[in-house]
Amino acid sequence: MLDWTDRHFRFLARLLCQNARLYSEMIHANALIYGDKNAFLQHTDTQHNTALQLGGSNPAALAKACKIAADYDYAEVNLNCGCPSPKVQKGAFGACLMREVVLVADCVNAMANATNAEITVKHRIGIDDDEDYSVVRDFVGEIDHKTPCKSFIIHARNAWLNGVSPKENREIPPLKYDFVYRIKQDFPDLNIVINGGIIDNNSINNHLQHTDGVMIGRSIYHNPLMMKEWDNLFFGCCENTITDEDLIEQLYQYATREVAQKTPLRNIVKQWLGLFYAQNGVRLWRQALSDATLLAENKPDLILRAFEKMKAFQVA
Ligand SMILES: Cc1cc2nc3c(=O)[nH]c(=O)nc-3n(C[C@H](O)[C@H](O)[C@H](O)COP(=O)(O)O)c2cc1C
Repeated sequence: MLDWTDRHFRFLARLLCQNARLYSEMIHANALIYGDKNAFLQHTDTQHNTALQLGGSNPAALAKACKIAADYDYAEVNLNCGCPSPKVQKGAFGACLMREVVLVADCVNAMANATNAEITVKHRIGIDDDEDYSVVRDFVGEIDHKTPCKSFIIHARNAWLNGVSPKENREIPPLKYDFVYRIKQDFPDLNIVINGGIIDNNSINNHLQHTDGVMIGRSIYHNPLMMKEWDNLFFGCCENTITDEDLIEQLYQYATREVAQKTPLRNIVKQWLGLFYAQNGVRLWRQALSDATLLAENKPDLILRAFEKMKAFQVA
């Protein structure tokens, strides 16, 4: 999630769940071509089970970005056709691509020719007043027909391109989960992943009766520990028995390595503020990790001290 998650968040997420596919925030193809490639692409996922999400609408640029990313072992490259922000619309990519299905097919084909990673598409169910199911059906059908993309992540609401903010666009257009279920019925061979407003394990279970997968955004950002049950609940693996203490030790070791490579501590720990979301004393964890004076010291043992403070509060 742009401006929210990054590779430091994904490091934490991977400690909590070994099997979930993790997605990068959207990175524009040109940022990879002209920017600091390593800063955008480096990651520590030893499971090689992370997807890179690209933004853009120029097939040649997207292909070039896929080639650049090929050295970084992403399992999947996803094309964003769902972001409604005005900046993205100005660049003629994101959600407005739902009205340019021929161009999307060209982009997907160019990407698929440039990398061995799986190419997938994330999109909405329509734009503005596209209320009919046929809009998303024809979009998926056309891409399925013309490209090797067989996996679609569908945010189950329209994108309204005028008059509402990106935040409102994740809340106001009504969720229509039944449209996504119908896509799975109409295209049973495709991998269909549902997204939007899914907040707990019960709901995930219900959606999995109708689709192949569930993507979660905001709930996990706010409460990452929710992932700890997933290997066991959804992937048929053993329970993840990592303790809070082990988790903190791993985060501390990671931060120490990162700081040694000149990553500012504040950039790392801000990704971990949501950890311990529901625990007593979490305020102390958050306070310590957001304290500008302490962060300026750039010493990873701040993580250990913040945890100790929270634990001491729980005992007291
Ligand atoms: C701050 C923020 C940034 C986001 N950035 C992206 C992004 O880069 N790429 C993307 O596909 N979706 C992005 N999204 C949308 C989410 O991935 C997701 O589709 C949306 O929030 C609905 O799912 P949720 O209800 O589980 O959060 C973002 C959402 C938020 C809140």
